[in-house]
Amino acid sequence: MKTIVKLNQVSVTFKKKKALANLDCELFAGEVVGLVGPNGAGKTTLMKTILGLVPASQGSIIGQEQKMASLIEQPGLYPFMTGLEHLELFSDQSCNQLEIDQLIQLLDLTEFINQKTKDYSLGMKQRLGIALALLNKPQLVILDEPMNGLDPYSVKLLKEAILIYRKAGISFLISSHILSELEQIVDRVLLVKAGELVENVEHPELLNDFEEGLLAKLA
Ligand SMILES: Nc1ncnc2c1ncn2[C@@H]1O[C@H](COP(=O)(O)OP(=O)(O)OP(=O)(O)O)[C@@H](O)[C@H]1O
Ligand SMILES: [Mg+2]
Repeated sequence: MKTIVKLNQVSVTFKKKKALANLDCELFAGEVVGLVGPNGAGKTTLMKTILGLVPASQGSIIGQEQKMASLIEQPGLYPFMTGLEHLELFSDQSCNQLEIDQLIQLLDLTEFINQKTKDYSLGMKQRLGIALALLNKPQLVILDEPMNGLDPYSVKLLKEAILIYRKAGISFLISSHILSELEQIVDRVLLVKAGELVENVEHPELLNDFEEGLLAKLA
């Protein structure tokens, strides 16, 4: 399997707080990897470090030159622009109008795509943020708690979109506290606790009592 990103003994320290400690991990092409762990475990920090938004204080990262896209916590949107204007603004030469239309269909944005984002609900913003992360055929898509604020229908759309893009060879790193929602889409799960990678759980293991098994490991 082709390696997309590889972290080697990466540590991140904020002032005196060590948010990541000697973390090793590797992401491969076309896989969907879940990232779970308690509040403050270092999930968002790990994602930002991979994206180069937070510098590693120690260790090395291979693959940061890849085309990456992300939705970290909430999307940064321009309130006086419409959803469509966002998609057009952020699309690059690899993305044509047809692909924008497909994304709008896939995440069912049609009804509000021509409204200014200041009038969007939480879930509408989130759905546009996901569409923006999928724009331009990135090699790796990092989604930090993407199910936040999504209703069950939107969660279903997101899962379908992830699986479609995965088929096209795109990798995903997705954090969530709702383990059952990850279950149907992930190939494996990384478990982070107090800045350390404590477990790399392969799918077959997950199928048996996914939630209970992980909760026991997090305890
Ligand atoms: N910019 C920052 N400055 C100082 N400390 C930070 C900063 N960002 C994160 N931290 C600390 O690093 C640790 C990991 O935070 P992080 O946001 O990565 O956790 P998380 O696993 O994403 O948690 P949650 O599930 O609540 O989103 C926490 O102790 C947090 O207080
Ligand atoms: Mg977080």
